[in-house]
Amino acid sequence: MNKDILSKTAKAMVAPGKGILAIDESHSTCKKRFDAYNIECTEENRRAYREVLITAPGAEEFLSGMILFDETLRQKTKGGVAFAEVLKKKGMIPGIKVDKGAFDLALHPGEKITEGLDGLRERLTEYKALGAGFAKWRAVITIGAGIPSMACIYGNAHALARYAALCQEQDIVPMVEPEILIDGNHTIEKCYEVTALTLKTVFAQLKEQGVLPEGTILKVSMVLSGKACPTQSDVEEVALETIRCLKENVPPNLAGIVFLSGGQSDEKATAHLDAMNKLAAAGGANKLPWPLSFSYGRAIQSAALQIWAKDRMAVDRAQKAVVMRSKLNSLATLGKYDAALEANLSL
Ligand code: G3H
Repeated sequence: MNKDILSKTAKAMVAPGKGILAIDESHSTCKKRFDAYNIECTEENRRAYREVLITAPGAEEFLSGMILFDETLRQKTKGGVAFAEVLKKKGMIPGIKVDKGAFDLALHPGEKITEGLDGLRERLTEYKALGAGFAKWRAVITIGAGIPSMACIYGNAHALARYAALCQEQDIVPMVEPEILIDGNHTIEKCYEVTALTLKTVFAQLKEQGVLPEGTILKVSMVLSGKACPTQSDVEEVALETIRCLKENVPPNLAGIVFLSGGQSDEKATAHLDAMNKLAAAGGANKLPWPLSFSYGRAIQSAALQIWAKDRMAVDRAQKAVVMRSKLNSLATLGKYDAALEANLSL
């Protein structure tokens, strides 16, 4: 493990004003997104769509990297340049999703465990040769009647720590992602409790496995009311509760924290991040030891996908949409977003 490489890469991922675009949907998730527009989920359609995002001119001003799926890391532009090369030439870091997905947890109905440790060392060696500088693993925690269980939280935390150690062994920055799902009618208080317990368990496991915090990025969900909760928290409450939860449970020497959007609207995902960074900039109790940024999938891609789906020739417009959304999120990392800017998004 080369500590300098790891901390340098991790710092670059959350450099001021920069965040990450997640385009690492598995084939089944990509199919879901494409189905909404009747796009056939073929290898070529996935490639063509990802080429639009990866080659978007100017995206590098707001994005430090993109997370790719295994297939995407091996794909090229129409002109024959490997996607990873395109990103590197633009000064962005290619990342790779390395888990094999979330499967039913034995003896625990309604809960998931993420698989993918078998053969991971060898896959990481190959991904590194293909240009990956960081790697993501997503664990899924569901809130419901009597769940999550400690078995689910602990099992997933242990797997996250084992994967993170394997990454650092090869100087690849782990992007450790415990996602507390937004689905359900739980309150923000319940989300806080589950997020806190999950983070505590994850960081205890990371420590146990010897993972270097300075060379690690946490990708996490915000502390929110469940989608079906009758009482929805406002932006200020989400920002305050998320900050409080992170400060209580994340070691201060971690390189940085990025959020997933998890089904929030584009505007809400940006507004929440901005509110947190405004609070942090104001100092006092909300001052933070780490940069807070974004690693959104849907909340950055949705407008671009819609444009491209309706007209495959409208590449320019789709690219402008992805760059504009990245720019608004970049402003949010600096606490400089203003909802009025949304009105200028004439696409
Ligand atoms: O693992 C989750 C994705 O990388 C982020 O996707 O922002 O659409 O939740 P999302």
